[in-house]
Amino acid sequence: MWAALHSWQRSQLCKLLAVLVAAALLAQCAFSLLEPRGLEPLFTISSLPLRRPGPGAAGAYRARTHAPPRGLLFSASDGLPAADATATGATPAAAPDLASLSVDGANSSAAANLSALPICPVLPPNLEGPLKVSRESAPLASLQEGRGPAWLRALSAGGHFRPSGCRARHRVAVVVPYRDRAAHLALLLTNLHPLLQKQQLDYRIVVVEQAGNGAFNRAMLMNIGFVEALKLYDFQCFIFHDVDLLPEDDRNLYTCPEQPRHMSVAIDVFKYRLPYADIFGGVSAMTREQFQKVNGFSNMFWGWGGEDDDMSNRIRFHGYHISRYPANIARYKMLTHRKQRANPKRYEFLNTGRRRFRTDGLNSLHYDCERTLLYRSHTQLLVRLPSPTAPS
Ligand code: BGC
Ligand code: MN
Repeated sequence: MWAALHSWQRSQLCKLLAVLVAAALLAQCAFSLLEPRGLEPLFTISSLPLRRPGPGAAGAYRARTHAPPRGLLFSASDGLPAADATATGATPAAAPDLASLSVDGANSSAAANLSALPICPVLPPNLEGPLKVSRESAPLASLQEGRGPAWLRALSAGGHFRPSGCRARHRVAVVVPYRDRAAHLALLLTNLHPLLQKQQLDYRIVVVEQAGNGAFNRAMLMNIGFVEALKLYDFQCFIFHDVDLLPEDDRNLYTCPEQPRHMSVAIDVFKYRLPYADIFGGVSAMTREQFQKVNGFSNMFWGWGGEDDDMSNRIRFHGYHISRYPANIARYKMLTHRKQRANPKRYEFLNTGRRRFRTDGLNSLHYDCERTLLYRSHTQLLVRLPSPTAPS
């Protein structure tokens, strides 16, 4: 039949075929853009449903929590309900938050007010893009007491913020592992709060301070921040944040997308280039479900290095992948400090990490929470860690 056609008919048919193939390719391209993962670098759309913390949300963790000293805490009149002030005893406090009240349709006027608000836009309207990073701040003590600029006065007890004109789409805990870096913490608070408020998040900064002067365990502090933050509020999204990284662009949204997100993509001291593809250190974001699924961080990494690489392995092992914003947005300045001693065993632990994913993490977390302080600028937990044990 092909032979029976005139040559011009053949060429017309060939052209038609080419047009059809091109149209199919274009359609495929358009559909791939519509897929959420394709949009991830551009927008963050959290489709997580509002949920109260499930029964025993933090029940698997052995924590002793002591009552905080009187006088340092803000009272109920400072914003959040009194029961939010601190958890005492080993069982998690119910989260008496407005969001969960509104989910359950409680008739408190605050909850009613909140649900009457329109939901905040997907893209916050007042973002500026590149920011001027503040290298100066008020002393930490005055931030803690709430003396200072408007962003500080917008916070309620424990450094909690909710946008006033709309209902936030994301409930975010920013967890900062910490010891002995007051000046860095003051700078982080000064730079981070205004950015998070512009992003219209329902958020709180939770600083987890390691007591004593034994080897630092960044990963364990982040696990503790996760567990303790859930005792205070029904957070959906956790941002694990080094104290010495200051964001340079407010389009870098502090939210949790479909996949775990590494946020500190481009850091000045690394010449704004990603050091290696699997890096997950610095600043990273995971949903509550993702973090629970991977059993949190390993508790075995004492001293500097490796714990974030182990998390990166956990993420891949559980079928997730690391997502990132483009390097022109996910930019940070790093504050300088004396380098910690690297853990000489980190590669060994990393190589054998996989066989401990199920047993080393949130479900093997032991600590003693000595104090929970609800400062105006942030929540600070003082925690005592157990002595290091060798991995099996
Ligand atoms: C360490 C990581 C660290 C990275 C960048 C790696 O060698 O294992 O923990 O985040 O270097 O400094
Ligand atoms: Mn550092």
